[in-house]
Amino acid sequence: MEQYIIKGGKPLSGEVNISGAKNAALGILAAAVMTDEDVTIENLPDVRDINVLLEAISEIGAYVKRIDRHTVLINGGNIREVSVDDDYIRKIRASYYFIGALLGKYRKAQVPLPGGCNIGSRPIDQHIKGFRALGAKVTIERGAVIAEADRLSSAHIYFDVVSVGATINVMMAAALSEGRTILENAAKEPHIVDVANFLNSMGANIKGAGTDTIRITGVKKLHGTEYSIIPDQIEAGTFMCMAAATRGNVLIKNVIPKHLESISAKLIEMGNEVIEYDEAVRVIGAEHQRHTDIKTLPYPGFPTDMQPQMAVSLALCEGSSMVTESIFENRFKYVDELARMGGSIKVEGNVAVIDGIKGFTGAAVNAPDLRAGAALVIAGLCADGFTEIDEIGYIQRGYECFEEKIRGIGGIIEKVDSEKDLKKFKLKVS
Ligand code: UD1
Repeated sequence: MEQYIIKGGKPLSGEVNISGAKNAALGILAAAVMTDEDVTIENLPDVRDINVLLEAISEIGAYVKRIDRHTVLINGGNIREVSVDDDYIRKIRASYYFIGALLGKYRKAQVPLPGGCNIGSRPIDQHIKGFRALGAKVTIERGAVIAEADRLSSAHIYFDVVSVGATINVMMAAALSEGRTILENAAKEPHIVDVANFLNSMGANIKGAGTDTIRITGVKKLHGTEYSIIPDQIEAGTFMCMAAATRGNVLIKNVIPKHLESISAKLIEMGNEVIEYDEAVRVIGAEHQRHTDIKTLPYPGFPTDMQPQMAVSLALCEGSSMVTESIFENRFKYVDELARMGGSIKVEGNVAVIDGIKGFTGAAVNAPDLRAGAALVIAGLCADGFTEIDEIGYIQRGYECFEEKIRGIGGIIEKVDSEKDLKKFKLKVS
């Protein structure tokens, strides 16, 4: 089984390029089938979640052509199926975006109910509430969500919780409705804006994305487009934490600094230097870093997807830090793994209290989920000695060429899949 082996203790330095945003790409790819014309999408990250979604798109009958590693052409003109296979939703939760996309285009969609995910319970009641408000009949039968409508009309929808998924899903269906829809208490994440811009480039009429009120005037049909996906906020943030935690100096390129402000602000509070350029940020890790507190919140608050990576950085600061997770209840699973590396973190409900330590020691650990896995890689890069990380399939779901990019800034990391390769790596770098 594949694992990462890391020899830590070296400050990282150099330049790293950030790929396209995975979470924006998931929404955009699903929305691409909403027209019968050709859609070309650029700056697509080459990560497992995206490749699985592309398979699902081709499975429902759309034409999918990979033009190069980061560009795909999709034509949804020949879709045969408004029903998505169970396998895909099991592999990738975001397949539920097909409900909004297919309901909008064909007035019918059948998608298996996404199962429990390992970061907490993830209901989709707000998605369903939105589709019903647009006039769809939504039932759950034999484990699948079946949404049908003769017509989709105007609606004024007030979301009870701020949900990225519900905002995108309902926005897609409303884009092809017959009326004017207002979404209140909408999520404001950068990828909401990107999906809205993408739909607008196909002829949709969506205003206000990026604020908590989105106004959508339905159009009859959408046309083809060429679109380039925004850079990945979370990948960029992960490299920022990596630079700070290893006391390195890294230029993180192809980013939108505005999207990184909540992360930059925390790193600066800790004593690090963050220099912003037009499309890059440089993080210079301070030798002695101070403790601080973080609380995850919807954008522009501190992202839950950055909580584990920041917690690892805080574990190497002087003093105690408090991390409050207010979006998903099960996002502290990396704590037990970090304890094996010497971390001193106590979890009480949705709060983790981190007592800063001088350094981690290498150990064998398991990646419990995507972002926690990335956090363990950061810990390994800081640790004294070797760290072996298992279950790296989680990490590959969301980080393109993670180990190559880390090696590019001086990290000593290898992906190995046998005991022999592991020993070879240890001999080589010892
Ligand atoms: C998206 C991101 C994920 C990120 C999360 C929060 C994608 C593919 N995934 O997930 O990486 O961690 O946003 O930024 O973009 N909720 C409900 N009812 C609903 C929907 C959500 O109660 O119908 C709750 C959830 O349980 C959670 C909160 O709302 O507590 C936020 O979830 P949401 O924003 O929907 O997350 P996702 O879209 O699943």
